[in-house]
Amino acid sequence: MSLYFIGLGLGNENDISVKGLELVKKSDVVYLENYTSQLNCSKKELEKLYGKEVILADRKKVEIDSDEILDNAQIKNVAFLVVGDVFSATTHLDLYLRAKEKEIKIEIVNNASVLTAIGITGLQLYKFGKTSSIPFENENVQVPYDVLKSNLKNNLHTLFLLDLNPVENKILSVNDAIRYLQKVELKRGEGVFKDGTLCVGCSNLGSQDRIIKSGKAHELLKQDFGKGMQCLIVPSQKLHFMEEEALRLWR
Ligand SMILES: C[S@@+](CC[C@H](N)C(=O)[O-])C[C@H]1O[C@@H](n2cnc3c(N)ncnc32)[C@H](O)[C@@H]1O
Repeated sequence: MSLYFIGLGLGNENDISVKGLELVKKSDVVYLENYTSQLNCSKKELEKLYGKEVILADRKKVEIDSDEILDNAQIKNVAFLVVGDVFSATTHLDLYLRAKEKEIKIEIVNNASVLTAIGITGLQLYKFGKTSSIPFENENVQVPYDVLKSNLKNNLHTLFLLDLNPVENKILSVNDAIRYLQKVELKRGEGVFKDGTLCVGCSNLGSQDRIIKSGKAHELLKQDFGKGMQCLIVPSQKLHFMEEEALRLWR
């Protein structure tokens, strides 16, 4: 009896790996962690491919009531599906450690993550500094601004991951993220994020219908990034000439 942590990748139901799909087919219970990210397909489309029911696992089920998942994994094969990669950006380390403690057999199947898919922008992955998340309730939140300030000081790019609420079908958009940074800039006035700051907005990375736009903050505010998963990058002020060339593709 096992607990399978399986990354689903970023696009739709077909982005699961062959290895991941084989394990899902072997599973008696299939959970989909659905509060940190979303695929471009419905639960029904996943169930059709897997030929079995998929149980949506919200934050409470995974982080507070995880005994249900672990108890099942002690007597059955359980698949725990994660959009993107299993331990990237959202760490499901707590569930992993608790399963280890209970001596449950674990298998991990990795997949693509937003943390690497941003490589398509042309910005070099090893020149990214600390990643920050921007929540919906951000009235008194300043950490993302501080992270940007520190990364810029060290000539590093900054990736902002943006909040989502799958129950209400809501996401924080690239435009919301820019407005948030402008608002903090207005309060703090430290010149970290100006109207002319170069930004790269991305949505639906890993899908055919991805949107990537680079431009000044005020220019990106006029762009529509659609309804898919979105993230914002503020590049370092020192770009390699190849990075500059790549960013011109997305103007
Ligand atoms: C907390 S992270 C979870 C990362 C996931 N485990 C992974 O490995 O990709 C989710 C956030 O990443 C960003 N994101 C996820 N998938 C994306 C995509 N395909 N395109 C753009 N941004 C994405 C969004 O800001 C989303 O709210």
